[in-house]
Amino acid sequence: ELKTSTFQLQDAPPSDCHGIRPRYPAEVGERPLSIVVFGATGDLAKKKTFPALFKLYTEGLLPANVNIIGYARSEVTDILAFRKKFIAYFPGKGKECHVDHFLARIAYVQGSYDDPADFAKLDAFLRNLEENTKGNRLYYLALPPTAFVGACTGISKAAMIPEEYGWVRVIVEKPFGRDLATSNELSHQLSQLLKEKQIFRIDHYLGKEMVQNIVTLRFANRAFAALWNANNIANVQITFKEKIGTEGRGGYFDNFGIIRDVIQNHLTQILALVAMEKPRSLSAEDIRDEKVEVLRCVEPVSLENCIIGQYTANEAMPGYLEDPTVPKGSNCPTFALMKLKINNDRWRNVPFYIKAGKALESKAVRIRIQFHEEVRPFLNRTQRNELVICAQPTEAMYMKITTKTPGLGKELIDTHQTELDLTYHNRYAVSLPDAYESLISEAVGGNSTNFVRSDELEAAWAIFTPLLHSIDKGEVKPLPYQAGSRGPAEADAMLAAEYRRNE
Ligand code: NDP
Ligand code: BG6
Repeated sequence: ELKTSTFQLQDAPPSDCHGIRPRYPAEVGERPLSIVVFGATGDLAKKKTFPALFKLYTEGLLPANVNIIGYARSEVTDILAFRKKFIAYFPGKGKECHVDHFLARIAYVQGSYDDPADFAKLDAFLRNLEENTKGNRLYYLALPPTAFVGACTGISKAAMIPEEYGWVRVIVEKPFGRDLATSNELSHQLSQLLKEKQIFRIDHYLGKEMVQNIVTLRFANRAFAALWNANNIANVQITFKEKIGTEGRGGYFDNFGIIRDVIQNHLTQILALVAMEKPRSLSAEDIRDEKVEVLRCVEPVSLENCIIGQYTANEAMPGYLEDPTVPKGSNCPTFALMKLKINNDRWRNVPFYIKAGKALESKAVRIRIQFHEEVRPFLNRTQRNELVICAQPTEAMYMKITTKTPGLGKELIDTHQTELDLTYHNRYAVSLPDAYESLISEAVGGNSTNFVRSDELEAAWAIFTPLLHSIDKGEVKPLPYQAGSRGPAEADAMLAAEYRRNE
């Protein structure tokens, strides 16, 4: 029997909207699709998951008979109010007329994350929607990591469907563990409950347009494919900067720090795509095989190749340690710069710098690939070519090149540096999807290319675990930097000493 706080779907109200052109994979349209959002009362569900589902619905990327079920422990007494709080986050002007239709597709089931009996009730609810025959199920775990195993146990024991009736896929949010051992333990536990092909570990950076474009740029363009090695590339810099600090979320952040929060996952995924060998095909497994291969070649970061920092107050922002949710005297880094070495022939002696920080001078995510300079016959009148891929805040890529300064009286030796510029909003009329939209749509289509496989995760944790343990033990102290600055001066000095253009 279902708890009182359970709400069925409603018939969609009449609408004068234009019809939505179906664009979902044919296979998906054959069966009812149930999308269950666990943790439906939470922050991620409200700000990202439901808005992404709305966008996919309006874009015709979810079948018209999709059923969306919010699931959480909280009692919901007013389903209309529950649905309505998502609206403020819905994207897309001109899509307002679809809102009521979409909201009517949202049901709610109240239940725990650790009692299989509650999952059996959820299963009964879904079977009813699936008319007891067939249906595909996408479970989205928008839950704190402490609830992952309980929820997967419930799904596995009580809410599966036989393969011939349809597929079951489970999207799992980060963080996947705190270090190599805890991540391996989590992977092991999940592997007892679900098949690897059913687990979709989300890293939302893999849903960003410019990150997805790296494979195409590298392997569909001879100009780049041929240059992409130590003979030509001097260094690679992958940079993540945010202006905001922890903003009262210090309690959460302090448990992780900048390395666990964005470097081990988001930026390491970018590194793998930039550094991997050409895959045999574009299949999910071939691409992920190559990412694993190259991650296994990355040496664990040593203390001497890393600078960590922690921000202090400026006029506008309190310092990290002044956040009342942060433990006194915390050693947690809010900034890190590290030099990584990849031990293979392609990248011999090419440093990969990863830099990430909160409360910095600007907001940006960029990949900067710096080429060796040409020396003769221009001597010191050339500068390094650079290919810069900007993932945020505006999507762009540009190539810095040296050209002859145009005009009468200018000679060959009169050079200057300029850019071949592909700024997306100047070139393309298409509106770029949010990362969660791309990834949920890929999961519905069964494409796991942009989800993290367990061996990738293991290889990524192996790079950072010794460093993280040293920081956790307090063996290295973060350097102070003022909020709104470029980070610790020592980080700039480390890059400048090697004559690199600093991000
Ligand atoms: P919340 O803290 O908002 O938790 C989501 C829901 O889970 C809550 O509404 C609550 O629902 C339930 N819950 C909370 N604490 C517990 C607990 N200790 N045990 C069991 N259930 C609990 O998390 P977020 O929505 O912020 O994040 C969900 C996941 O997504 C996390 O893994 C997070 O790391 C990840 N993530 C979040 C981002 C964000 O922007 N918020 C960004 C990237 C990743 P109820 O009590 O009703 O069951
Ligand atoms: C999350 C981190 O994974 O990514 C946050 O937990 C960070 O600390 C966020 O702010 C950045 O994502 P985006 O898409 O805004 O660059």
